[in-house]
Amino acid sequence: MFITLEGPDGSGKTQQIRLLSTFLESRGYKVFSSREPGGTPIGDKIRDVIMDMRNTSMHPRTETLLFCASRAQIVEEVIKPKLQEGYIVILDRYADSTMAYQGYGHQNNLNTIRQLLDFATGGLRPDLTLLLDLDPEVGLNRRKKGGGEWNRLDAYQLELHKRVRAGYLEMAAQEPDRWRIISADQSIEVVQSIIQKIIVDLLE
Ligand SMILES: Nc1ncnc2c1ncn2[C@@H]1O[C@H](COP(=O)(O)OP(=O)(O)OP(=O)(O)O)[C@@H](O)[C@H]1O
Ligand SMILES: [Mg+2]
Repeated sequence: MFITLEGPDGSGKTQQIRLLSTFLESRGYKVFSSREPGGTPIGDKIRDVIMDMRNTSMHPRTETLLFCASRAQIVEEVIKPKLQEGYIVILDRYADSTMAYQGYGHQNNLNTIRQLLDFATGGLRPDLTLLLDLDPEVGLNRRKKGGGEWNRLDAYQLELHKRVRAGYLEMAAQEPDRWRIISADQSIEVVQSIIQKIIVDLLE
């Protein structure tokens, strides 16, 4: 089984995956989890290029292709073999993140992004995608509480993040068998118990 977690920064994906892995392992399942970009030696080098603060001149299309290159590598080198070996594979972000951010968020042609993702993943789709849905203003308010002031960039980012959220919800509506929407505006424990129930129901 191939599970992905999606949602905005700070929605709790990494934390929920850690808890879920422990839970599934305690029930005797073999679990493998990883994050994107990265997850392979080649992918980690690509991640360094994407994250390098000196690469201020990186064009958005270059960035999109680097994400896809890292993904192509982890699909072939890690995800497919682990699935073959019977692992439950859990990924912190996958192709849907590129659709949400580069497609809906930055308003690139959705069909073009979709074709690019099909090529990068070799058509490998998750069996289950959990969307940790969060109002972007809640996320930005958390940041403001951290001491930063509201500026022009925040206003711009708010519009972008609203499109990202709407994009996620549209994708979930288009493929309801694959997606489950969970409100991330609840305690970590409540979110985890909802996730565990969804997965136990599917596995057993
Ligand atoms: N349900 C929640 N309620 C309140 N705080 C939370 C909740 N879930 C996570 N947090 C806190 O929010 C922060 C971000 O959580 P986490 O790193 O798991 O999110 P993420 O979705 O992986 O973010 P990123 O995309 O930036 O990696 C952490 O400090 C975490 O403790
Ligand atoms: Mg994270």
